[in-house]
Amino acid sequence: MKVFTTIAEMQREILTEKQKGKTIGFVPTMGFLHEGHIGLLKKARQENDILVLSIFVNPLQFGPSEDLDAYPRDFEKDRQIAIQEKTDYIFFPSVDEMYSTSPSVGVIAKERVNVLCGKSRPGHFDGVVTVLTKLFNIIQPTRVYFGLKDAQQVAVVDGLIKDFHFPVQLKAIETVRESDGLAKSSRNVNLTPEERRQAAELYRALELGRSLIKKGETDRLKLIQTIESHLKKTTESTVDYIELYTYPDLKPIEEIKGKVILALAVKFSKVRLIDNIIVDI
Ligand code: PAF
Repeated sequence: MKVFTTIAEMQREILTEKQKGKTIGFVPTMGFLHEGHIGLLKKARQENDILVLSIFVNPLQFGPSEDLDAYPRDFEKDRQIAIQEKTDYIFFPSVDEMYSTSPSVGVIAKERVNVLCGKSRPGHFDGVVTVLTKLFNIIQPTRVYFGLKDAQQVAVVDGLIKDFHFPVQLKAIETVRESDGLAKSSRNVNLTPEERRQAAELYRALELGRSLIKKGETDRLKLIQTIESHLKKTTESTVDYIELYTYPDLKPIEEIKGKVILALAVKFSKVRLIDNIIVDI
C-alpha cells in the first residue's frame, strides 16, 4: 500500500492504473475510521481492481461554531485498518495541498440541503460538494462509496454527480448496525448504559414506521405521531426531528408513495443520534 500526500503524485499513479484498464473504487473519508468505513472499504475492495481511500479533514464543511481542531484524528490506526482491508492507495493531503489558492470558482449545493441535519448546518454541504469535486478529479473513480447512515449526504452527492456528469457510479451502502439494531457510530460511547439500552428503540421506531407504510399507511402526520409516541414511551430522549421526504430528492410529502426516507434525530443527555430507513413502495 502506498500513501500519497500530493495531488500530482496521486494523479500520476491513477493515470498509470487507468492506462492499464483498471477500475478504481474510492472511499472518501475524514479519517478516524470506524466499522461503517470498514464496510465501505470491504465492498469497494470486492467490486474494483484498485482501492483508494482518502483521508482529509475538510475545513470547508465545518461551520463557525464547529470545532475543526477538535475533530478526532489517528493516522497510524487508519493506516493499519487500510492495510488490513487491502487498500492500494491512501490519499492523505494537507489543507495547503488541497486549498493552495483562494478559490476562484465555488460549487454550491442548492437542493436537498435545507432539510434534516442540513437545516442546522448552513454551508456544510457546499464544503462537501466542493471537496468531492476536487477529489473526483484527482482520483477519477469508477465507483464511489458512501454510507446510508448519512442518507442526506448520499442524496446531495447524487445531485452533484448527475449535475456535473461525473463518470462515476454512486454506491450507497446500508448502515452497519449493532445486534439490537442501533446504528454503529463513534458517538454511541457517550450514551449512559441505560441510554444505550433505550437507543435500540430508534431503529425499532423506524421499523414500526416501515411496517405501517408497507401495510398501506399513507398519512405522513399519522406516521410521524406514531413514531414519536413510540420514542416517548420507550426512551428518555428528546426528539429533534422525525421526518419523511421523497428520496433522493428530499422533497416534502403529505401522501406516502414511491421511494421515501424516514429519518429521525434525538438527543440523549450527552449525545445526539440520527438514523433513517429508506422505503420503496
Ligand atoms: O462523510 C465524510 O466523511 C465527508 O463528508 C466526506 C464525504 C469525506 C467529504 O469530506
